[in-house]
Amino acid sequence: MFHLQIPKNLSKTELYRSLGEQAHALVSGELDFMANAANLCSLLWHCLPDINWVGIYRLKPEGLVLGPFQGKPACTRIPLGKGVCGTSARQNKSVLVPDVRKFPGHIACDSATRSELVVPLRICEDLVIGVLDLDSPVENRFDAVDQEAMEALSRLLTGRVSNLLKGDL
Ligand code: SME
Repeated sequence: MFHLQIPKNLSKTELYRSLGEQAHALVSGELDFMANAANLCSLLWHCLPDINWVGIYRLKPEGLVLGPFQGKPACTRIPLGKGVCGTSARQNKSVLVPDVRKFPGHIACDSATRSELVVPLRICEDLVIGVLDLDSPVENRFDAVDQEAMEALSRLLTGRVSNLLKGDL
């Protein structure tokens, strides 16, 4: 059984070290992407402060489709290039939004959301398979440290799939 450790009174660096170790333990014994994505969302939901939604959108031929998440029900489909998620997926880059009211085309799934961080889920650098989306009710909640940590967790998640595609496993 996995023992969730909810970090308390840790610096951001220590928090992300703990999260990284726990995420590694969670995904290392499982190759199924959706199972690992669901557990990663749960881990982030329980361990990160000031978050009102965390989840995955998968990139399909018709656009982004909702995957595993924690938080209130959300929009099920987002066209590529639309909103923060669609922008991140189309540009294959992380998008950090300090104030969603100032992001043209922001898609409001929850009116409480004030800031947002979306990082692409990619295989082999240029193949985007989805995005990891974090929302906060606090303006300016996310910074470069959060972005770097989420990018590392995204690589951990998709690394399992990359290995499969490369035939390493
Ligand atoms: N705000 C996102 C939509 C997804 S929800 O936040 C869960 C966007 O603008 O793409």
